[in-house]
Amino acid sequence: MKVVVTGGAGFVGSNFIRYLLRNVPDCRILNIDKLTYAGNLNNLSDFFTDSRHHFVREDICRQSTMEKLIRGWEAVVNFAAETHVDRSLMEPEKFLRTDVWGVFSLLEASRRCGLKKFLQISTDEVYGSLIRGTARESSCLSPSNPYAASKAAADLLAFSYYKTYGLAVSVVRSTNNFGPFQHPEKMIPLFITNALENEKLPLYGDGRQVRQWLFVEDNCRAILMILQRGQTGQVYHVSPGVGHRNISIARMILRLLGKPESLLQSVKDRPGHDRRYCLSSEKMRKLGWRPEWSLEKALAATVKWYQENPGWWGALKKGAFQEYYRKQYGGQTC
Ligand SMILES: NC(=O)c1ccc[n+]([C@@H]2O[C@H](COP(=O)([O-])OP(=O)(O)OC[C@H]3O[C@@H](n4cnc5c(N)ncnc54)[C@H](O)[C@@H]3O)[C@@H](O)[C@H]2O)c1
Repeated sequence: MKVVVTGGAGFVGSNFIRYLLRNVPDCRILNIDKLTYAGNLNNLSDFFTDSRHHFVREDICRQSTMEKLIRGWEAVVNFAAETHVDRSLMEPEKFLRTDVWGVFSLLEASRRCGLKKFLQISTDEVYGSLIRGTARESSCLSPSNPYAASKAAADLLAFSYYKTYGLAVSVVRSTNNFGPFQHPEKMIPLFITNALENEKLPLYGDGRQVRQWLFVEDNCRAILMILQRGQTGQVYHVSPGVGHRNISIARMILRLLGKPESLLQSVKDRPGHDRRYCLSSEKMRKLGWRPEWSLEKALAATVKWYQENPGWWGALKKGAFQEYYRKQYGGQTC
């Protein structure tokens, strides 16, 4: 298996490469990443020098360079994206550039090079908020913020390449991931690392937003399965099924760390904040996928990882991050 992984220095991408190296002994991986603030070579340190892995620092928006790089490879799995909803409210252009133009550039390069498979990694956010019920793969897209809208646009563009040019596209929409190597701007690592430092846990609004939290390793297993056995022209949902309120997750983290609930702090809700996401993953279950990690077990493993790796996240919470944090959560320190 010869796979180009774009965005492989980020959270899910680096976990996917690690999973591939462990589970597909004869794989070859070309990891292309621009190394934005979210990309981190420290995420790759345990496999950087593995002879099956080759890293190139590059921007997916540079189409002719992409064409040169991916020629001769079999498949592209595209994780590269701007991914933080809060930042998409501040700087939407960056999201349109990478999450739409970047995907166009990769699709065009893949078509020209005759690649056998193109997996676009998408998100449950493309459906917008669901008051009740469950989104199926055929449900209408109704994104609420620039991040979700740019991902939805990319999904549609990817399918246009399937229909028009016969490029073997599949789209993977997963629910919120968590686990090792996730940037501390995201909710679960932010809560864990703030709690470790006895800082407040900023909860948007009433904290009753519902998400289906998925351990990143379960997602990586699903993505590999889709790469190997998924049908082209199809969307696949990856979801653990059960949803949890943000406030319940925050309380679980505090309990795991033996910290008081007085660390919880309500902050002004963000505009357009989706109340609830809910994906059905029947199609993946028919393919043979099931989550192997319970929320409790996965959260405990994640908390342990952040406890054991303060150097990794401590560096990311310094400098520009503090300015971002002040703007976002109104003066709280971190
Ligand atoms: N993390 C989640 O909960 C989650 C859930 C559903 C879907 N997704 C999707 O999974 C993918 C990966 O998410 P993540 O959480 O790992 O994101 P991340 O922000 O941790 O990583 C994104 C990576 O993309 C790289 N990148 C950004 N712009 C680039 C460009 N122009 N060219 C090349 N590389 C670029 C960054 O350097 C970084 O390494 C995204 O497409 C995201 O939409 C994530």
